[in-house]
Amino acid sequence: MDLQLAGKTAVVTAASGGIGGAVVRALIAEGARVLGADRTVSDQLKRTSAVTVEADLLTSDGVEELRRAAESELGGVDLLVNGVGGLAGLDLGTLPDLTDETWQRAFELNFFAGVRVTRALLPLLREAVVNVSTSVAHWPSSGPHWYGASKAALSAFSKGLADELGPRGVRVNTVSPALIRTPLWDEYGPRVSQARGKDFEQLMSDLPGQINVTLGRWGTPQEVANVIVFLGSPAAGYVTGSDYVIDGGLLKVL
Ligand SMILES: NC(=O)c1ccc[n+]([C@@H]2O[C@H](COP(=O)([O-])OP(=O)(O)OC[C@H]3O[C@@H](n4cnc5c(N)ncnc54)[C@H](OP(=O)(O)O)[C@@H]3O)[C@@H](O)[C@H]2O)c1
Repeated sequence: MDLQLAGKTAVVTAASGGIGGAVVRALIAEGARVLGADRTVSDQLKRTSAVTVEADLLTSDGVEELRRAAESELGGVDLLVNGVGGLAGLDLGTLPDLTDETWQRAFELNFFAGVRVTRALLPLLREAVVNVSTSVAHWPSSGPHWYGASKAALSAFSKGLADELGPRGVRVNTVSPALIRTPLWDEYGPRVSQARGKDFEQLMSDLPGQINVTLGRWGTPQEVANVIVFLGSPAAGYVTGSDYVIDGGLLKVL
């Protein structure tokens, strides 16, 4: 199938990360011109043909820098992939332990970064937005309260925005991955294993079985990128307001 991405322009945030990096490489392989933004531009990202922006997307200066680069380097944005998010450095405790600061930082990272980047790029946006949520938005007790809640807000925002932008021809969809082996887990995994009194490597190998992932294994960043690239492409031209779960069968309810 031809995804019809040759010559299209794309902005990808969290482009140095596991999932974002795979999306950048997949888009380039399809012939797209890509601008990749991250707090730190990794060597791997530098080795691609993507134009890069090194910016903290939790700051208004960082978002403005990204907007300026998108305008000057790409002219317009056919596809925006909002990948910024995660659990880095945030308290994994239960409700009594969680401060307002933790909640606020979680929402800045997992919700507001996506909202602000989308708003800033709106005048340049031509075809599609894909927001990276999580299976935890569907199954909140499988992660920290603030993670499921802030990502569920992102998923709800995406659904509403699909309605707002549909009439001007811009589609908005969400992906909800689970258990994708990326650097996110190098930071989050040891904290989970410590809390459970388990060895990190043991936890990582047991986790898919323990939480009953139907396919019995971790997913790869490429497997997430494949779905994101499809959703962002003209080949998915009649898909908007959707949420694609990429979890190896983890979620057992409709
Ligand atoms: N991996 C999974 O199992 C999984 C499952 C469901 C959903 N997700 C979601 O997928 C997305 C990507 O995650 P990943 O697994 O690819 O994680 P990752 O490999 O840790 O990549 C995240 C990237 O985002 C960057 N970043 C963080 N804060 C930023 C900021 N303020 N401004 C600019 N860049 C920033 C990080 O930079 P630093 O390294 O400098 O922090 C990192 O390069 C996240 O939204 C995550 O919640 C992941």
